[in-house]
Amino acid sequence: MDGAAAAFSVILPDRALRIENLGMTQAAIPDAAIRVRNVSHQFGEVGEARHVRALLNTSLDIARGELLCLIGPSGCGKSTLLNVMGGLFTPTTGAVTVGTTPVHGPMPHDIAFIFQESALFPWNTIFENMILGMTFQGVPKSEREDRARRALEAVGLDEFAAHYPSQLSGGMRQRAALARALSLETQILLMDEPFGALDEQTRMVLGEDLSVLLSRSKKTIVFVTHSLGEAVFLADRVAVFSARPGTIKEVITVDEPHPRKPEFMTSAKFHRLRDQLYGLLHEEIRKSMSQSAKPKRAYEDQAKGDS
Ligand SMILES: Nc1ncnc2c1ncn2[C@@H]1O[C@H](COP(=O)(O)OP(=O)(O)OP(=O)(O)O)[C@@H](O)[C@H]1O
Ligand SMILES: [Mg+2]
Repeated sequence: MDGAAAAFSVILPDRALRIENLGMTQAAIPDAAIRVRNVSHQFGEVGEARHVRALLNTSLDIARGELLCLIGPSGCGKSTLLNVMGGLFTPTTGAVTVGTTPVHGPMPHDIAFIFQESALFPWNTIFENMILGMTFQGVPKSEREDRARRALEAVGLDEFAAHYPSQLSGGMRQRAALARALSLETQILLMDEPFGALDEQTRMVLGEDLSVLLSRSKKTIVFVTHSLGEAVFLADRVAVFSARPGTIKEVITVDEPHPRKPEFMTSAKFHRLRDQLYGLLHEEIRKSMSQSAKPKRAYEDQAKGDS
């Protein structure tokens, strides 16, 4: 993985920007990479069957070079927030800025996405997939092959450039998706449960690799996960969502330098933070489950009325 150093070795991020122990009140971060201000988002209109209030009055600053994890109950609006940050959805109210630029649509030169499914073209080799990504982004032709090689080296897949996605394991496909995003050389990576479909051991190893990458680059990463352990292992800060309509309930800081070592996972500090996260999430998961139980109750009430 020393290719990683060559490809992405840049100054360590200025972690002094981190604000310790952010609680319910979200302090502003000077020179933030991403600013989310009072964002609410609803799908459909009130009265329509598909009407959902997904996000409510959410504000958050993400520092340059930090890895921020979003965690919360299913359906609380994490992906919606990620899509709003990346300009894929325009929020119903509120605003997002990237650096000093207001986000009004996709910003392919600043932001790359990685999703749970690798979204590689199955009929193209890994190398061709990388080249295509750069072609869509408008990278000059003369740079594409070199960048593709460096990015594949950075994720340890240089020997698999000529393989097709179906010839790789799930973990390798996610590495390839990461390489494709890295080749775009954006400052920001938005990752929506990128390791969610993988087994625990594979995701642990990929998490370690991502932590190495972060220590060698000044990328800003927003990472959605359902795994408490993954959040504590990877994040500089973890933003915990409330049940839908989602808003940030609390942000906790994980004060541990990158690259994180496997030993961190067995430390008392890791377990304390994981327990703290579990405590914060538990109540919200209960609320979100009682929301989804409503239709069943309505059915039961109707059944009682019929009898
Ligand atoms: N395109 C859409 N049209 C209508 N409703 C949507 C759309 N996308 C999301 N929603 C609704 O908005 C709410 C939030 O969805 P979102 O995908 O952001 O949740 P999430 O926190 O990412 O959940 P999960 O953890 O299950 O991925 C859900 O109730 C979902 O049904
Ligand atoms: Mg989601």
